[in-house]
Amino acid sequence: MINGWQHLSGSVDSIFFFIMAICITLLAGVTCVMLYFVVRYSRKRNPHPEDVADNLLLEIFWTVVPTLLVLVIFWVGWKGFQYMRTVPPDAMLVKVTGRMWSWSFEYENGKQSSVLNVPLQRPIKLAISSADVLHSLFIPAYRIKEDAVPGRETYLWFLPDEIGTYDLFCTEYCGAGHSAMITKVAVLSRKDFEQWYKAEGKSTGSTPHLPEGAELIQEKGCIACHSLDGSAKVGPTFKGLLVRNETVMTAGRERTITVDEEYIIRSIKDPAADVVKGFPPIMPAMPITDEELRAIVDHLKTLK
Ligand code: CUA
Repeated sequence: MINGWQHLSGSVDSIFFFIMAICITLLAGVTCVMLYFVVRYSRKRNPHPEDVADNLLLEIFWTVVPTLLVLVIFWVGWKGFQYMRTVPPDAMLVKVTGRMWSWSFEYENGKQSSVLNVPLQRPIKLAISSADVLHSLFIPAYRIKEDAVPGRETYLWFLPDEIGTYDLFCTEYCGAGHSAMITKVAVLSRKDFEQWYKAEGKSTGSTPHLPEGAELIQEKGCIACHSLDGSAKVGPTFKGLLVRNETVMTAGRERTITVDEEYIIRSIKDPAADVVKGFPPIMPAMPITDEELRAIVDHLKTLK
């Protein structure tokens, strides 16, 4: 019965409604019997208690029926679980990395993005890992969820069967920016996907009008912790960053510096070196090329 189910959302929903139907039937049955007993065996009708002899048939009935029900639920769930854990051999592999607090996706050809772009009707395998703490990848539209564990690779697969964009969340509390760890799955037609996949550069495809540095600070997840509008988030704001004076902690000692290019580059490459006073030393170091670094610094200079 499950082989005919085209996609997991269908099979998960079917199991859910199946179990729900059993629950509602039992609830209705138990309630009816209870109401009947309240009337039939009330003290008014039965002033003298009577001894009740056991009923073998009834005992067998209410042992066998629930046992069968539980076995059926197990079997349906097991088939769904097998389907969920068996990746079709023609699946396209996408590496997913969770970090505080963003998701990044890397494709077989080395292309990277912050939005999960996938082609229509091609099974997608997600190989999931974490750069820092526990996260959990959740795509409600496909009914799939899996932890992102540091030092370990976990996986999921799904079949994008309708063009559109769907939410992708982090569903494991991972710190102050947890709620900002949101992105999208974009299901594209095969043609649109090919075009995006083969295009030069690392653009997300979602924000083609932005300068490269602006796109990078989104893609690398910088803006999950650093605001652009002057407000303090988990980290200091990017607004007016250059030539601002900051008190930083260097190896446990306070000192005042003026933010310049050199400071920004050091802070990206070695985030723990000089942490601005009042902020927790939690920024992870991340893989970044010199070109990307250049683009980010150039862009930060423009945020007055
Ligand atoms: Cu990552 Cu919550």
